[in-house]
Amino acid sequence: MEVVIVPDATAGGGLIAGAIADLLRRKPDALLGVATGSTPLPVYRALAGLAGEGRTDVSRARICQLDEYVGLPAGHPESYRSVVLREVVEPLGLAEESFMGPDGTAEDIVEACAAYERTLAEAGGVDLQLLGIGTDGHIGFNEPCSSLASRTRIKTLTEQTRKDNARFFDRPEDVPHHVITQGIGTILEARHLVLLATGEAKAEAVALAVEGPLAAVVPASALQMHPHATVVVDEAAASKLK
Ligand code: F6R
Repeated sequence: MEVVIVPDATAGGGLIAGAIADLLRRKPDALLGVATGSTPLPVYRALAGLAGEGRTDVSRARICQLDEYVGLPAGHPESYRSVVLREVVEPLGLAEESFMGPDGTAEDIVEACAAYERTLAEAGGVDLQLLGIGTDGHIGFNEPCSSLASRTRIKTLTEQTRKDNARFFDRPEDVPHHVITQGIGTILEARHLVLLATGEAKAEAVALAVEGPLAAVVPASALQMHPHATVVVDEAAASKLK
């Protein structure tokens, strides 16, 4: 695992956008796995900036979601499908067809999870998966004690994660209790994992993930098993590394 310490979130966003641009030069139709939440937004802005200046050609890029809330109505502004369309797909000028995600509105959620696994496999697998990290060490929505071999499935959010995500909803009780998330085993199949963490609130989780033992209680520690994992942290998020 490679750890890169950058001065701030903007620098982290620029660095990762540059890595994505390099990947798209080598493989124009790369499948990019995107996370939601606040942390990756500087990456998406920097990538859209590079594309706007003609410094990268994103026209054949494909985008896939990491996770999705269960039960939000289709088109809800905070569904992760809406967020990725708004923050990634539209700013990059991509067609909606180049974008794939799990169906959190499906009646049969178990089948929706299996279908998403098939979609990712048929697409040839994820080339670069961007990850954030929860204050409790989750990646995707694999909360602590998720199996390190897990596949895409329904998970219950911890109260801590629901509290952390309440800022996106009108009322705290509106945060869904359930999500579909790629499993840790699914995430580990991506060819390159890039985790971005910014701010002091992530320092403890980053230290446990990077320097702690490999343990299901800290899902992000699974990156230690991956042959090509890059952790990009700002100074605040790096503050508890030894
Ligand atoms: C969301 C996701 C989560 C977030 C994590 C951090 O798609 O995968 O693991 O990355 O909850 O969220 P922020 O960046 O909002 O602190």
